[in-house]
Amino acid sequence: MIRCVVTISIQKRPFHNSSALFAGKKSLSAIRAQNATVSLPNKHAIVVGGTSGIGEGMAHRFAKANVSVTIIGRSKARGEEIVKTLASLSSSKETNHGFIACDSFLMKNIQTACAEIKSKQQSLDYLVLSQGISAFQRTDTPEGIDQKLALHYFGRVMFIRELLPILRHTAEVGGDISKVMSVLTPGVHKPYKHYQSDFELIQNYSAANSADAGCFYNDLAMDAFSHQPGNERIAFIHSAPGFVNTNLGRDLPWFAQIGMKILSPLARTPEDLLKYFVIHSLIANKQDYS
Ligand SMILES: NC(=O)c1ccc[n+]([C@@H]2O[C@H](COP(=O)([O-])OP(=O)(O)OC[C@H]3O[C@@H](n4cnc5c(N)ncnc54)[C@H](OP(=O)(O)O)[C@@H]3O)[C@@H](O)[C@H]2O)c1
Repeated sequence: MIRCVVTISIQKRPFHNSSALFAGKKSLSAIRAQNATVSLPNKHAIVVGGTSGIGEGMAHRFAKANVSVTIIGRSKARGEEIVKTLASLSSSKETNHGFIACDSFLMKNIQTACAEIKSKQQSLDYLVLSQGISAFQRTDTPEGIDQKLALHYFGRVMFIRELLPILRHTAEVGGDISKVMSVLTPGVHKPYKHYQSDFELIQNYSAANSADAGCFYNDLAMDAFSHQPGNERIAFIHSAPGFVNTNLGRDLPWFAQIGMKILSPLARTPEDLLKYFVIHSLIANKQDYS
């Protein structure tokens, strides 16, 4: 039963196929022109992990589409620098960008950040969860959770749970669907086999088990949220970016960093990925292409 859940696609609209789905209704060049100029100044996105790599690239693409973006990360200086870049990419005066500092290793910090968000805004159209690290070893947070699992699974569920009221409100009032995207590794890893006896990887930590668990738990969490009553108008997406040239390996041992450098010419740039991740998966609606 569990295996069956893992193999299904959680994406409501698989990003690789979305243009093909609507092909024949509008020419590819017309769709590209529409994508290039799409402007949504009334929409708001939150990008956790928006201070680097895939999340930062996604924040740029949202800003170009005049979506207001709040990025979340640890470094205030870096966050403020990116907010300036986002402002330079947006052409609408209605668009506002911001940064919230949050060390997302800790669940209590996530609750504080989400309370701040909910005190400032009643609506949220896009929630992107792209916070992540690479690690070969277990490191406990002060709350007793492994750091990597805290970022890749527990913290993502906490962000979604805390922000559900404004995601639901947006969909109810605006009539469009709200979208949550967890950027990790669907379809890449096996189900973690000790999930019943050692859910938090206390006895069975290894790089492979940690990768399997993060992927497996995200599949199940996105599926569970999508079936939860009240979430009918929210799309929950677990997306695989493939191999992208970012800062992800910065905390790995030197030999692994050299390995990643050697392989980096095979990786895509975040900009290449964004054509699919932001426009096709998140912004585009079927009626946009009819
Ligand atoms: N790059 C790839 O090839 C690839 C492949 C498959 C999956 N992924 C997944 O994609 C996601 C994004 O990775 P990326 O490649 O864009 O990596 P990245 O460039 O290293 O970005 C990671 C982001 O996570 C944030 N982060 C790390 N620790 C944090 C913490 N304690 N609290 C809050 N934010 C924290 C970082 O912000 P601060 O350091 O400023 O806090 C940064 O914005 C990750 O989950 C990764 O596993 C990446």
